[in-house]
Amino acid sequence: MANPSLLILAGDGIGPEVMTEVKKIITWFGTKRGVHFDVTEDLVGGCAYDKHGTPLHDDTMARAMQVDAVLLGAVGGPAYDNLDFSVKPERGLLRLRKEMDLFSNLRPAQCFDALADFSSLKKDIISGLDIMIVRELTSGVYFGEPRGIFPDNEGGRVGVNTQRYTTNEIRRVARSAFELAKRRGNKVCSMEKANVMESGILWREEVQWVHDHEYPEVELSHMYADNGAMQLVRWPKQFDVIVTDNLFGDILSDCAAMLTGSLGMLPSASLGAVQANGRPKALYEPVHGSAPDIAGQGKANPIACILSFAMALRYSFDMGDDAARVEKAVETVLANGARTADLMDKDGGTPISTTQMGDAILAALD
Ligand code: NAI
Ligand code: MG
Repeated sequence: MANPSLLILAGDGIGPEVMTEVKKIITWFGTKRGVHFDVTEDLVGGCAYDKHGTPLHDDTMARAMQVDAVLLGAVGGPAYDNLDFSVKPERGLLRLRKEMDLFSNLRPAQCFDALADFSSLKKDIISGLDIMIVRELTSGVYFGEPRGIFPDNEGGRVGVNTQRYTTNEIRRVARSAFELAKRRGNKVCSMEKANVMESGILWREEVQWVHDHEYPEVELSHMYADNGAMQLVRWPKQFDVIVTDNLFGDILSDCAAMLTGSLGMLPSASLGAVQANGRPKALYEPVHGSAPDIAGQGKANPIACILSFAMALRYSFDMGDDAARVEKAVETVLANGARTADLMDKDGGTPISTTQMGDAILAALD
């Protein structure tokens, strides 16, 4: 069988710095575990604009459609802030998501014990937390038509966006959530506002339909999204998998993620339809951006990017044991006290560098 293929798009700012540490782990899998990935590297974001005048070259897009998984660092930076909207670095990322049709965005919120004191919540509420938010990523109010700013009838203006979901769009992201739940705690909570929105009523009915017809063995509950926000900060461990729409998911996933500490710790996966080879179209990336304030200084925490690679092992390559091994290495290193600057209080001692954190994780893998 062909080696699993990876396209690495390190991007801008700290993207290449954190990706360097991931590449060491990819090499480790080849030499120590005999798992060889066919890796190609290319440009996305500002660096692609500098070379090609576009944040994502057509050849890169075509390659992304062919590989088993795309691994992305981060895009953007002050040098590109004044570019025309159509060639902004973020457009490269949006094009990838759209053309790969990555409708299911997975955002885990997992608390490493060593960092439990770092949370804004009490330790017993947060320790051992391991939940997964599945956010619909390609539809809803961010895409619905009509949209725009129009003159109104009173001499003023009206701003319009449309929340719109079809049966198919709801069912496919619901399936993705139920599949995940089967490999985790077997529990899905669906969140919408069925009390005040018709799209929310449809969401609730269709998620229930998928449950009743295809996943009756998974426990399903429904919750209004505003209550969901309260429950997430009150007692987050009541949840296993949460599935919700694009808008609510944007907010709830940021909220849940921050329960566990630093932006430098947060991985993500964006999955599309399952291909003939049984693998979903997939893009893995840290949640953080290009962090221009610390770029080039060796300060970036590589863990978000490393955990994103672990998600690739689990969700693209069915290597759940190896993913757990990477996660365990991260846990060990944190338990031993290794901290990049983002994981420390101001007078918490001397932080280690991006490279030192990567090397420590590599050593723990052995
Ligand atoms: P950001 O995530 O780049 O940085 C926010 C803060 O968190 C900064 O203080 C940064 O130093 C810190 N931080 C982020 N990642 C870190 C890491 N791995 N280790 C240690 N500290 C870390 O968000 P910001 O500042 O709003 O945006 C900067 C640029 O990144 C902008 O051009 C923005 O458009 C872009 N961006 C790109 C994203 C992507 O590629 N997916 C997502 C968010 C922003
Ligand atoms: Mg957000």
